[in-house]
Amino acid sequence: MPRHFLEIGDLSRDELVGVLRCAHALRSERDRDERTQPLRRRTLAMLFEKPSLRTRVSFEQGMLELGGAAIVLGRDEVGLGKREAVADVGRVLGGMVHGIAARVFDHRHLVELAGSGGVPVINMLSDRHHPAQALADALTLMDAFSPGEPEGLAGRKVAFVGDGDNNVARSLAGVCAALGVAFACASPAGHRLEEGHGDRFEDPREAVAAADAVYADTFVSMGSEDEKADRLEAFGPYRLDEALLDAAAPGVIALHCLPAYRGVEVTNGVLDGPRSRVFEQAHNRLHAQKGLLAFLLGG
Ligand code: CP
Ligand code: NVA
Repeated sequence: MPRHFLEIGDLSRDELVGVLRCAHALRSERDRDERTQPLRRRTLAMLFEKPSLRTRVSFEQGMLELGGAAIVLGRDEVGLGKREAVADVGRVLGGMVHGIAARVFDHRHLVELAGSGGVPVINMLSDRHHPAQALADALTLMDAFSPGEPEGLAGRKVAFVGDGDNNVARSLAGVCAALGVAFACASPAGHRLEEGHGDRFEDPREAVAAADAVYADTFVSMGSEDEKADRLEAFGPYRLDEALLDAAAPGVIALHCLPAYRGVEVTNGVLDGPRSRVFEQAHNRLHAQKGLLAFLLGG
């Protein structure tokens, strides 16, 4: 049976630690201009129902660096569940490529692909989860607080400010729980993190107290554009600015998955300031996903 990565919980804690260690090692090799190529003659099909910069480039570049190849299918090409049943897409691709990665509106479509393709399926973002982002987030936390050693993050604290009922927050909560990192989330009523995923707050200043990292994401995720006006009003007090960072632990870092709506959920002062690790975090998408691809497709 192939292994899939639809959410963080699809990896055991030990596997997650192994993927992060591998990511760190692959990045060090790359820095020395050395290449391990465990995915020679392996191909990943990448299906997109939504736009992407980081995810598309990092997965495609990652496959190339590991010796394989990627086939990118844009949103008007496949018609997942519209032109063709999702399970039929899975069965066809599974006979041709070694892995399927997909960015979808409906998480259930990923589950259907996983059940039909016979090859590993990777979530490149759904309405529910963004676990590939969370791997890069963990690698970025390691770089700041425990270089090369995922287990050294235990006891740290991450605070997420904004839409707790979103893909990025949910996957971040998952990776924090697996690594023993405390997770706090500040959101307005109606947009809160599910119970049991971390400590939930209404007041952002309470959530960020003693946090080693403060994380922001857009207030209007892809697919919720219809709610834009209401969301911008509800989330107004949840913008990450320098004063909010000042209320966290000394040595705090600022994270954001990008793309950022500058001045809306995060200020330029934070994004471009000395405490920002946002662009390192974006670059870590490549390295973290190479660790994942080597694990899932390399055998
Ligand atoms: N963070 C992220 O997933 O970016 P893209 O939407 O550009 O892939
Ligand atoms: N929560 C955002 C993340 C974008 C990378 C969205 O789903 O649009």
